[in-house]
Amino acid sequence: MRKIRIFDSTLRDGEQAPGFSMSIQEKVAMAKQLERLNVDVIEAGFAIVSPGDFTSVKTIASEIKNASVASLARARRQDIEYAWNAVKCAADPLLHVFLATSELHMKYKLNMTKEEVKEQVRASVSYARSLCGAVEFSAEDATRSELPFLAEVFQIAIDAGASVINVPDTVGYAEPEEMKKIITYLQEHVDLRDTLISVHCHNDLGLAVSNTLAAIQAGAGQAECALNGIGERAGNAALEEIVMNLKTRNDFYGADTRIDTTQIINSSKLLVMFTGVKVQPNKAITGENAFAHEAGIHQHGMLRNRKTYEIMTPESVGLTENRMILGKHSGRHALEEKLRQLGYTVTPSALDGIFEKFKELADAKKVVNDKDIEALVKNSVVEIPKVYKLDKYVLNSSNVLSSTCNISLIRNETETIQGYASGSGPIEAAFNAINRASGLELALNDYSIEAVTGGTDAQGAVGVRISYENEIYKGYGVDVNIIEASIQAYINAINNMFYERKCRECQ
Ligand code: KIV
Ligand code: ZN
Repeated sequence: MRKIRIFDSTLRDGEQAPGFSMSIQEKVAMAKQLERLNVDVIEAGFAIVSPGDFTSVKTIASEIKNASVASLARARRQDIEYAWNAVKCAADPLLHVFLATSELHMKYKLNMTKEEVKEQVRASVSYARSLCGAVEFSAEDATRSELPFLAEVFQIAIDAGASVINVPDTVGYAEPEEMKKIITYLQEHVDLRDTLISVHCHNDLGLAVSNTLAAIQAGAGQAECALNGIGERAGNAALEEIVMNLKTRNDFYGADTRIDTTQIINSSKLLVMFTGVKVQPNKAITGENAFAHEAGIHQHGMLRNRKTYEIMTPESVGLTENRMILGKHSGRHALEEKLRQLGYTVTPSALDGIFEKFKELADAKKVVNDKDIEALVKNSVVEIPKVYKLDKYVLNSSNVLSSTCNISLIRNETETIQGYASGSGPIEAAFNAINRASGLELALNDYSIEAVTGGTDAQGAVGVRISYENEIYKGYGVDVNIIEASIQAYINAINNMFYERKCRECQ
């Protein structure tokens, strides 16, 4: 059966979309999960964009062994050099070079003639190829480009050494039948030799997955996609939907992928954990309701034969029924087993921390369920050194006076520092007190809080984004006391900031 190569762009096209940013450590942990998912290519980022992007691409390149690692680059020498310096340590590096080919982009964005575009493709792809054995060329806005010109540009890229030519539907404009015609045209008019045709579809009209599948039917051998369909604007084609279509309907497509589909749910959960962006409940494959059968008539059919209403099993995407309930008598081993069932691998020291929090929670709450455990894990999947730790605080808040907070923090495990401040509410007072104690000029850009489960004893999960010297850092905290959860989130954001800056300096 034809194997379709899965090129994952969660960490590049996905992460560059507003609201989906991840820290360097989160990107590395996500890349390792993509490796477990068995994607063929991990597009780790756009190395020239910022020192942080460069560092994360380079770190991912050095840690991933079982997938090709790519960096995006504009068709310019300097971009290509940056991309190469970031991926050259990879077991299987790939340079992904792009330039637009539609009239609109050439005239208004690039201000280049067709001849100039052709020359730049030739020069940049040959330069990339002189550095790296594998080069992919993307013709940005390909689906709105004149087909004879598109074919000419792809021929130049192949002759200059590209092993993959990518057809992006950059603005999500194409229809499935058109996509088939484009792929067929390219097969008929380009001397492909053993070059792979790839597609990269955006979802502006809700057709990204359909267009990708149509292209595959017409002969494309690589699908570019992102987990949960994240990406610019309406997103990219969703990896899990392409993969499960090919797996469930391989009778129809005659094609499959190498993806370990039982890792799909874990991958989606990790992405949600890192970005803080939830999946809509009715989203195919990874939505919470995707495998829930509530209607009585459906349940009746399912009890007789699951196939009446189930076209793929929950187990095939990694949804396993989890019956073990944890409580205050559960030990470290039971917690470890639960984490394993939920798909989390943590180090022994992280497990110690989670176990301590779990014991406190089991005392405070009647039932500790899976969502509670997942909330506790969030700060431990990626372990970072704690420059600041909370020692204690006293907070006064009322509806007649402004709030005040006196806080004591431990810095670098040794020094105790204190801060006192007021604020219009308890959270502002607490954050101002942390700024005073640490002497850092931090601004709060975003604050969110939600109950992890129902009930008055639910844990509050707080997410903050703080800015320091024009850069944004995220932090997360969880506790049954929402003031403490907020303080923890703020302190964690500061610790993330120190760690990210240090990582960048080390490169
Ligand atoms: O959407 C697009 O055109 C892209 C290219 C850089 C591949 O993301
Ligand atoms: Zn894109």
